[in-house]
Amino acid sequence: MLLPGDGIGPEIIKEAVGSLNAIGEKFGHSFDYEEALIGGIAIDETGNPLPEETIGKIKQSDAVLLGAVGGPKWDTTDPDKPRPEQGLLDLRREMAVFANVRPVKAYKQLLNASTLKEEVIKDVDLVIIRELTGGIYFGEKNRKEAEALDTCSYSTEEVDRVIKFAIDVASKRRKKITSVDKANVLETSRLWRERAQNLLSGNELEYEDMLVDNCAMQLIRNPAQFDVVVTENMFGDILSDEAAMLTGSIGMLSSGSFGDSKPALFEPIHGSAPDIAGKDMANPIATISSCAMMLRHSFSLEEEAKRIESAIEAVLEKGYRTLDIMENGKEQVGTKQIGGLIRDEILAN
Ligand code: IPM
Ligand code: MN
Repeated sequence: MLLPGDGIGPEIIKEAVGSLNAIGEKFGHSFDYEEALIGGIAIDETGNPLPEETIGKIKQSDAVLLGAVGGPKWDTTDPDKPRPEQGLLDLRREMAVFANVRPVKAYKQLLNASTLKEEVIKDVDLVIIRELTGGIYFGEKNRKEAEALDTCSYSTEEVDRVIKFAIDVASKRRKKITSVDKANVLETSRLWRERAQNLLSGNELEYEDMLVDNCAMQLIRNPAQFDVVVTENMFGDILSDEAAMLTGSIGMLSSGSFGDSKPALFEPIHGSAPDIAGKDMANPIATISSCAMMLRHSFSLEEEAKRIESAIEAVLEKGYRTLDIMENGKEQVGTKQIGGLIRDEILAN
């Protein structure tokens, strides 16, 4: 199921489909695609950022691939007007994908593209697990003339299931979990920390609690210390944008969101980048590598997933770069061209 959405969404989804089709050709699979509306374009066509028809189609699909939503056309501070982002939040809630996995790994070809020193980022290999269907994103909201309210609430059930998910991920990696909260100030964080301690103490995993402000600093000071970082919705949103810069560009980071049942949702972590939309300038790599996650997790196609990942690396190795990761001495290419190069690598012998 494809949800291109707004801004650069349709362009990057097109390249992602190109990569999937190349995988199909190479390995003898055929993927069926359905497309539906979400975000600003859905508001324009139906008045609703997540139309019923889209929800119906999702329920019949094996996996969902989303581009991006939002743009200046629909930006408003009026609480009564529909917003594209609400479509995305409703989608996550509707699909009950409570665990959002955002892997952050420095590509060796891009060590110079980051604003941080090579020695700081070269060993980065971490995963942020962001709680995705609770917290302040979904609490009661209210807006009066001179006052506004957002509520943050978490139940033990919501905290437990995402921490258990993180335990599962960490046990297949370097077996270290950092649970991030703001327990020195927030009640929800104190609940979070209690549950983390409850589920993780005495467990074979290495485990620490970290305050979110400290974590923001540690991610820049010494990011290689982290293996699995698990945190609540808004902290995870902010920390994952920060962590993206360890890889050189937010255009590189994929994500997958999982619940107890199918389908799962895959999307790049970046937004709709309206300033470069339609200009063949966007980096489709985050979306293409989200397809690798999709092949691995929703279709159990590990070899195919690796094929996409190594095709991306090969194209970077050959010196091709989109604008966001461009450096001196490299060849700058557009969205379509880098998509085509990745496809060629997938199909090569
Ligand atoms: C993300 C995005 C979304 C979020 C926006 C577009 C609602 O920033 O996926 O990180 O805040 O979750
Ligand atoms: Mn974000």
